[in-house]
Parts: sequence; structure tokens; C-alpha cells
Amino acid sequence: MAAPKTYSSREIQALYRTHLLREEAILKRILDHRGSLAGITEMDLAEDPVSEITDQNHIGGVKFVKDLARKAGIGPATEILDVGCGLGGSARCLAHLFGCRVHGVDLSKQRCSEALDLTKLVGLEDLVTFQHGDVLKIALPTRRFDVVWAQSAWVHIENKEKLIKKCRKSLKAEGRIALEEPCLKRLPRNQRENRELRDLADHWKSYLEGLDVWTELLSSQSFEVYCKTDLSPELGKLYRKLIRLARGGVITHVSRSEQKAWELGLRLVAKGIVGYFRLVARKLPQGDFSLRAMRA
Ligand SMILES: C[S@@+](CC[C@H](N)C(=O)[O-])C[C@H]1O[C@@H](n2cnc3c(N)ncnc32)[C@H](O)[C@@H]1O
Repeated sequence: MAAPKTYSSREIQALYRTHLLREEAILKRILDHRGSLAGITEMDLAEDPVSEITDQNHIGGVKFVKDLARKAGIGPATEILDVGCGLGGSARCLAHLFGCRVHGVDLSKQRCSEALDLTKLVGLEDLVTFQHGDVLKIALPTRRFDVVWAQSAWVHIENKEKLIKKCRKSLKAEGRIALEEPCLKRLPRNQRENRELRDLADHWKSYLEGLDVWTELLSSQSFEVYCKTDLSPELGKLYRKLIRLARGGVITHVSRSEQKAWELGLRLVAKGIVGYFRLVARKLPQGDFSLRAMRA
């Protein structure tokens, strides 16, 4: 395999500056449909079966937020840190559905500002807050959280060991990491597959890892992985839908390169090279996991 590239935070932010999912596009979709923004709730921002122009910048939309929340044991008293929160879609959904407090962190200043606008618009600013910056560089709140949450965001972060270590410090005892991310399901078998995988990673500005690597990283930092689910078919389903919507003119302003990336993503999912997974892990006392493993 070719040596992986490194992506700067500037390149990652550029990817989202012109992204299909932006405040302006979401509000336009609602205005076109309802004629007014009066009385809208988080669910108006989060759900749109026709065009997929929502604040949910991950696979599976609101359903996956609910499923992941159930696995992570989220309720009204749960304090959540959403790392790579984007437009704050998951954060607001969690607050709206469960009444819990969520603090979102995102690299993109533009996305943080749009996230705050959308949060005020649906009246959730007492429960949902945002902080701009690279999670590996900024000081996170000093209070401890019950759940560190991430959907389709940690794939952009190369040093996952450092990331998990930092998140561990922000978690209470028995706190959970709740993750849904794209992953590498198998290595490429020839040059063509290698090139395709490199092109997709390049388009996504991402660092794909296998599920075994994720599990090992968490275990080595005393987390017990108690939920592991392969959600890869949903990734293929979303790409098929987006390609159909763009070809049918339902979603417009999609660059040719974005459409090509969807086609490439679909091909790599079909070949079983790229996938999507859910993983939930509980924080154990430091060293407990290895002690248990040694005793077993
Ligand atoms: C695909 S979006 C997912 C957004 C959100 N989790 C959601 O599900 O709607 C990935 C987000 O990760 C953010 N991100 C990437 N690298 C980051 C970093 N080092 N620190 C904080 N956020 C980061 C990006 O700015 C982007 O908004």
C-alpha cells in the first residue's frame, strides 16, 4: 500500500466550507417546503426523506442517533461531549429527544457558528453548547462527561491513540465512548484497489482503520468494548440514494468531484474494502482491562 497522506486542518476545513450540508441549504429546504421558519423544531432540521439536506452529517440520520444513544445508556441526566459535532445535528437531537446536556467541539469555525445559529433557532441553547478548535489542541471543559460521542468525525483524526487518551480524561468513571465511523474492512488486493482506496481517503481527508485497530486502541487504554456492530450496508444505501438524487436533479450544486467520490465510495463498499461500524466502550479503572485479560 502507498504511504498514507497527512491532511492539514486547513484542508479539512476547506472540505466543509462548500459542503452540501450547511445552515443556508437546510433552512432553504425548510422554507421552500413550509414557507416559514416559525415554530420549527430540531426534527425539522434533522429529517428530510426527500433530499437528505439535514443537519445530520453522518450515516443513518436520526435513527442512528437514537440507536447509538440506546447502546450508550443516554437519559435526561447524561452529560455528553460530542467530538467533531459538525452543525450540531446529533447534539441537538440528543438534547431534543432525551433532554440531556451536550457540549460539541468542532474544528471548523464556520460550522460552530452555524451550529449555534441552528440551536438558537430551535430553542435548545440552554442544553447545547459549542466550542471551536482542533480537539487534540484545545483545552476541553474541566467538568467530566458520562459519554464521549462521535459520528463520522474521528476518521479525520490521524493520531487516534492521542485522541482516545484525551477523551478518557474527560470521562467520569464508567463513562462511555460511543462511536460510529467509516472503517477499513480489508486491505486492497491489487494496484487498482489501492489507488481507489487512496483516492477515497484523499477525497474524505481521512485516515481509515480496521475495527480490530479501534478495538485494540480502546482496550490498551482500559476501555471494555461492549457493543460492536457492522453498519456497512447503510453506507452503501446512502451513496446509492445520493447518486440517484443528484442524477434526478433533486439535489443540485453537487460538484462533479463529490459525485465521483460517492460512486467510488459505493464501489469500495460493494467490494468489501470500506465499511461503517458502531462501537461502544466503557471506561474501566486504568490497567483493569489488562489485569482482567491476564487473569482470564
Ligand atoms: C462528517 S462531519 C460529522 C459531523 C457530526 N458529527 C454529524 O454527525 O453531523 C465531521 C466533522 O468533524 C470535524 N473535525 C474534523 N477534524 C476535527 C478535529 N481535529 N477536531 C474537531 N473536529 C474535527 C469537521 O470539522 C466536521 O465538522
